[in-house]
Amino acid sequence: MNILVCGGAGYVGAHVARELHLRHHKVTVLDNLSTGHREAVRWGQLIQADILDTNALDSVFRENTFDAVIHLCARSIVSDSTTDPYGYYLNNVQGTLNVLRSMRANGVGKFVFSSSAAVYGQPISDVIHEDHPKNPLSPYGSSKWMVEQMLADAWSAYGLSSASLRYFNAAGAAHQDGIGESHDPETHLIPNVLRSLLAGTPLNVFGNGYPTPDGTCVRDYVHVEDLASAHVLALNYLDQNQGTHAFNLGSGTGFSVMDVIRTAERVTGRQARISPREPRAGDPARLVASNLLARTRLGWNPSQQDLDEIVLSAWRWHQDTAY
Ligand SMILES: NC(=O)c1ccc[n+]([C@@H]2O[C@H](COP(=O)([O-])OP(=O)(O)OC[C@H]3O[C@@H](n4cnc5c(N)ncnc54)[C@H](O)[C@@H]3O)[C@@H](O)[C@H]2O)c1
Repeated sequence: MNILVCGGAGYVGAHVARELHLRHHKVTVLDNLSTGHREAVRWGQLIQADILDTNALDSVFRENTFDAVIHLCARSIVSDSTTDPYGYYLNNVQGTLNVLRSMRANGVGKFVFSSSAAVYGQPISDVIHEDHPKNPLSPYGSSKWMVEQMLADAWSAYGLSSASLRYFNAAGAAHQDGIGESHDPETHLIPNVLRSLLAGTPLNVFGNGYPTPDGTCVRDYVHVEDLASAHVLALNYLDQNQGTHAFNLGSGTGFSVMDVIRTAERVTGRQARISPREPRAGDPARLVASNLLARTRLGWNPSQQDLDEIVLSAWRWHQDTAY
């Protein structure tokens, strides 16, 4: 298939482009490089354009024939979204609407969307299933849920088939192919732990009084190569199953902040300098996915679940190649 990957210069998008290439699909990346990296676009042509620019989008769709779009573009810093909600709704909701309208005008009927565990808000169960109530705690989470609702309406009105993939915490790197996680500012735990171990700088740990075994927040880390493979499975699924669908992408296992730090110390042979901080507003104590639906419906079989391996792949990337 000929696939447009919007946001393919970013962390997850670069891994999705790689996976598509490995599965013999043709890849075109559209990205404004606001948080993405030119060096990460290694599989397929880069079109540098902004999804807020409807003229640019229309000409990309007119000049190419795509079978499907995988859409990863977003601003995605939760705290940022609380101080700039208009900016987040503009980029994440209006931008996505622009892509969907260009797709419709050009007869492209399959869409895979990067959603997030942030659609759920405070969990009311130990493990989160897809039908868990949606009460996002931030404009970022709301923007993802709004898009999912648009996709349901687009199926009813226009017959657009879509899969919303609700990622938990993407982690690790395809370091062997020179891609990995690089955000500025970085808000994700594993790269921050590794950067502080490399530089010997203090590491902020936000809150140690949560109702978890060691008092720090528990999250579900999923290897980015496993995430990427789910996108290709979702495309195949949409071929056989028209409609609007949503799947959690998580490992189903929770690790605390301290588990991650101890793992990184073990993998790197370095010792962290922990700096305890106040808990962050709206940080749930525990966020762990049920991935049953993705396993049974998509045939997803995440194969890199070992936290040591995930952290090691990220460490190799940070040591060797980080852009
Ligand atoms: N990384 C995670 O753990 C995680 C978890 C849940 C959901 N997500 C979602 O997955 C997606 C990818 O996340 P990521 O970590 O790779 O982020 P990223 O910032 O590395 O990638 C996003 C890409 O989109 C591009 N982009 C943003 N706005 C754009 C615009 N207006 N026009 C064109 N390009 C634009 C950026 O330049 C970047 O390359 C995002 O939608 C994010 O919300 C990520």
